[in-house]
Amino acid sequence: MVLRRLGVNVDHVATMRQSRRTLYPDPVTAAALCELAGADQITVHLREDRRHIQERDVRILRQTVATSLNLEMAATQEMLKICYDVKPDIATLVPERREELTTEGGLDVQHQRDALKKFVASLKDADIEVSLFIDPDLDQVRAAHRVEAEAIEIHTGKFCEARGAAERAAELQRIADAALTAHKLGMRVAAGHGLNYHNVSELLTIEPVTEYNIGHSIIAQAIFVGLPAAVTEMKRLLNP
Ligand code: PXP
Repeated sequence: MVLRRLGVNVDHVATMRQSRRTLYPDPVTAAALCELAGADQITVHLREDRRHIQERDVRILRQTVATSLNLEMAATQEMLKICYDVKPDIATLVPERREELTTEGGLDVQHQRDALKKFVASLKDADIEVSLFIDPDLDQVRAAHRVEAEAIEIHTGKFCEARGAAERAAELQRIADAALTAHKLGMRVAAGHGLNYHNVSELLTIEPVTEYNIGHSIIAQAIFVGLPAAVTEMKRLLNP
């Protein structure tokens, strides 16, 4: 059986650093520890407002990450330039609003198909794999395929926040339907947002999801047990 991949999002380490404008804790150090503990990918979101990850982090991570560097970014010309320069392994396009606490919803691919198709092509020309962060919605999955993205990341936020068994089961089904459709269309399928040590196992029945990008819960757990133990435990849950 193919092992499920774990991408660790180290933005939250940078959030702590930026809260005091110190040099520590360094997300580059965190990334190295995550890889040593079995992470298959390092994920960072370089936001327009630079609230956590800085350009310096992305540039150094490009030199140090030995697995795969997944850069989450808005589809802007500024980010395209940085991508051409840094060459992450994967660019995951996400919607971005300045006032949000974190990425709140998926990308509306359907309503910006022409612009996104061009943007995706520009990244692919530079040999960067493109993934689109979308809600578990079949129209968005089909639109992602039409703009020729190679992968999607399904937003699991609603599933994680669902109250009660019925709502939870309905959200899980939406993720399963989206994942299967994307898989049949030939796209690689990742999932992420809001996943933690208690809810991640429920998703494992959805076979087409081969990669999980998880940040907040792992960094939070690391405060108490250390980063290597936090990563090892999540990897174990993903591959029981
Ligand atoms: N995937 C994407 C596209 C994200 O925007 C985020 C949040 O930065 C994550 C995964 C990780 O989410 P969390 O920090 O809730 O695990």
